[in-house]
Amino acid sequence: MRQPDMNKMNERTTVTDAAPIKTLPDAQTVTEVQHYTDRLFRFRVTRPASLRFRSGEFVMIGLMGDPDPKTGRQKPLLRAYSIASPSWDEELEFYSIKVPDGPLTSKLQHIKPGDELILRPKPVGTLVHDALLPGKRLWFFATGTGIAPFASLIRDPQTYEDYDQIILTHTCRDVAELTYGRELVDSLKSDEMMQELLGDGLNKLVYYPTTTREESPKMGRITTLLEDGTVFKDLGIGGITPETDRAMVCGSMGLNTDIKRILEGFGLHEGANSEPAEYVVEKAFVG
Ligand code: A2P
Repeated sequence: MRQPDMNKMNERTTVTDAAPIKTLPDAQTVTEVQHYTDRLFRFRVTRPASLRFRSGEFVMIGLMGDPDPKTGRQKPLLRAYSIASPSWDEELEFYSIKVPDGPLTSKLQHIKPGDELILRPKPVGTLVHDALLPGKRLWFFATGTGIAPFASLIRDPQTYEDYDQIILTHTCRDVAELTYGRELVDSLKSDEMMQELLGDGLNKLVYYPTTTREESPKMGRITTLLEDGTVFKDLGIGGITPETDRAMVCGSMGLNTDIKRILEGFGLHEGANSEPAEYVVEKAFVG
């Protein structure tokens, strides 16, 4: 299959011409940084030639911590980050929160193209196609930065080959926090290669954004909108059933717990790499 044109999709310029001197263990070079709000940003880094991963997986990334006041020695400060780019992409993309006093993200938010960061090339995770049994409709339920693994999966051709319909729901506090997902979906729908995968009318991928703390066309937590049937009414869907529907969930602990209960109520069971079933869950990682 031909691959989508990443340069066109991301409208970016690459800064990787000169091979930088690697000073960190497992160092990769930052190629692009984009800030969305004072809480959210996206960055891209070079990809180790040997790194293979399945869309939806995460890796440990980070920076060197502050020197120990006594010994002067620095230790790597690493956190799990979902890879937001698809497996065919020549670079790696990450989407991150900025926690003002977070040990890692208080530093990470200042990275710029040309800087190095540490990336342990050992991808793992449960939000992968292999952990789900075959189905007709695939739901991605995300809150906040939990959209990152789905940013990878909605750019993966396999997603469209395996399912008739993909529904991406994203709940954020305010409209500005939806920007990363909205721009990504828009870029896919205007990309010639992706259009082939998205089918007639480009409606194989359905985007369902909601906000909880700022007025927007669709307000409320996705959990509430599932429980009161609003989502199904809005999308013209009868409901979620174990025969047709599969789901991946990534968000806060609260979201994960609540959605699990709702999906189990619809008769879906939790799967894993070793035992595929009807839905899978992963915590959105916070730095
Ligand atoms: P709310 O504003 O009602 O807390 P955060 O930025 O704190 O990670 O939250 C991201 C989004 O996830 C917010 O819109 C938040 O809604 C929503 N959220 C938090 N907990 C849950 C939950 N248990 N179920 C569904 N949505 C949740």
